Amino acid sequence: MNPIRIALTKGRLEEKTVELFQKIGYDCTPILKKGRKLILPIPNGNMEIVLAKAADVITYVEHGVCDIGIVGKDTILEKERSFYEILDLGFGRCKFALAGPKGKSFYTGYRDKCIATKYPKVARRFFESKGMDVEIIKIEGSVELAPLLGLSDAIVDIVETGETLKQNGLEIIEDVCPVSARLIVNIPSMKLKKQQIEPLIQKIELSKGE
Ligand code: PRP
Repeated sequence: MNPIRIALTKGRLEEKTVELFQKIGYDCTPILKKGRKLILPIPNGNMEIVLAKAADVITYVEHGVCDIGIVGKDTILEKERSFYEILDLGFGRCKFALAGPKGKSFYTGYRDKCIATKYPKVARRFFESKGMDVEIIKIEGSVELAPLLGLSDAIVDIVETGETLKQNGLEIIEDVCPVSARLIVNIPSMKLKKQQIEPLIQKIELSKGE
């Protein structure tokens, strides 16, 4: 039987995912000693781990070159692609929030507001739900800079501890939605590799209750 391939988001979610896999009995030594390698076997399971950027995890799963993906809900909401979203893994918890300069009121005035974000679709949907017209500018990182430099009135971004906002004189105006790590599955794989995928999902689900 071919191994199941699991695309794992590098960085923030990596450590917690490795902890989860160890908890359910998989030997993650190759990931812990990965060096610059990007595809790592799980020696005691018929599985391979692929380390990728969050948005690419979704691309690999959608195209079926990876069967399973572990990725944040933030990226899922922004990419809007087709796959099964099976489990909320409960880690990587943070939220999307609208934030702006401390003490400055956002919802007043007649001019359309300008919003900087790495997540234009998420921001667009949020303001559409309010029936508000806004201009959205896509930024690639450290979005907090945009209002500080006078490019935007506010940002829609991920807030985890709130420290980045605080240290840059910004504050939350309104929460947009919660975010956490999710397990996603390629649609054909769910049928074709059911015998391998289902037990893995069950083990993960059981471990969450422990
Ligand atoms: C994220 C997010 C905020 C920060 C929030 O950025 O975009 O900037 O983390 O975390 P905090 O609330 O705990 O301070 P990331 O570190 O992913 O870098 P980037 O903005 O350059 O993408």
